[in-house]
Amino acid sequence: MSELSAVDCDATAFHLVWADGSRAECPHIWLRDNDPGELHPHTRERLFDLKSVSLDIRPESWQLGPSQLVVKWPEKSSDSHYPLDWLLAHRPGERRSDPARVDRSYWSAEDLRDIPRFDAMSCRQSAPVLMDALQTAKRLGLVIFDALQDNEKAGESLGELIGFMRRTNFGTTFEVVNKPSPNNLAYTALPLPLHTDLPNQEQVPGYQFLHCLRNSVRGGGSTFADGFQICSDLRAQLPEEFDLLSRLKIPWRFHDANDDVRYRRSIIDLDSAGELSALSFNAHIADVPDLPSAQLRDFYQAYQNLMLRISDPQYQISHALQPGEMVMFDNRRVLHGREGFDPASGERHLRGFYVEHNEVDSRIRTLAAG
Ligand SMILES: [Fe+2]
Repeated sequence: MSELSAVDCDATAFHLVWADGSRAECPHIWLRDNDPGELHPHTRERLFDLKSVSLDIRPESWQLGPSQLVVKWPEKSSDSHYPLDWLLAHRPGERRSDPARVDRSYWSAEDLRDIPRFDAMSCRQSAPVLMDALQTAKRLGLVIFDALQDNEKAGESLGELIGFMRRTNFGTTFEVVNKPSPNNLAYTALPLPLHTDLPNQEQVPGYQFLHCLRNSVRGGGSTFADGFQICSDLRAQLPEEFDLLSRLKIPWRFHDANDDVRYRRSIIDLDSAGELSALSFNAHIADVPDLPSAQLRDFYQAYQNLMLRISDPQYQISHALQPGEMVMFDNRRVLHGREGFDPASGERHLRGFYVEHNEVDSRIRTLAAG
């Protein structure tokens, strides 16, 4: 239990110092808004109405108990109780601890000779194993589940343990097989250059899963590269071109007889701190760039330089998925592709589906909470 070594209350805030030296400045209005006693007892959702008090609210009185700060607010008949552990965990200006916040490790081919593997049954039976698999997927952007049960639904069944599947115009699941009248190059035997899926969607799918049902063809290895390692190198080597690709929004489009799904986005996305947050790279469904003519030459130079790096073998790994294996990768970071194969040499059938990032994060947190 956390202990306070000093507490002071002035006109605007409580100033708290814990025995271990941690400090917090807790404005009164913040404490009033986050009264743990004014949450719904079952949903834990806030019931307090911020409009009901002045922003300059001050405690009428307060006292420090052995494990909590007790405050009497002027417009509330009962006392409000703030556990010291709660105050330490939620102190303003500090991000709360979160098992789903995982530092990313970028990789090139030589760093990831073996894709981390997790036994599917162990993931089903052990929360720590599944949590380790999902945290590794966040760290590296790529893991393999192996020894899936010998049935066609085994991949979806494991996926449902992880999160809700995202439905797109390709369905909730999609069959990656050689089709006679394909509406996507994935459904051919042609080599498929490294790409990310569906940048034409308003929300690009987060994680992609590919469950291998059959793979007896000559060729057809799955290829992967860490797009964030590539972007990070581009940023160091050609900062102006990196900047251009993170600023210019270009159109993306998928269309067939049933759908015409379009969105404008930049190839590289940065978060508010300037860190990489997404790479969208799919030359097949990049629509006709409609940038002003004067910008096109610079755009193509930056785009081609990114493309040259993406096809550089130093970044690319290859793995021929075997029946019973399912790969999970971050579709907003890790590029995927396929070596061509001879469709007469055997069968190749992968079943794919998507689960969004926040679904995976939610599962990590519930697994961590036991
Ligand atoms: Fe794909």
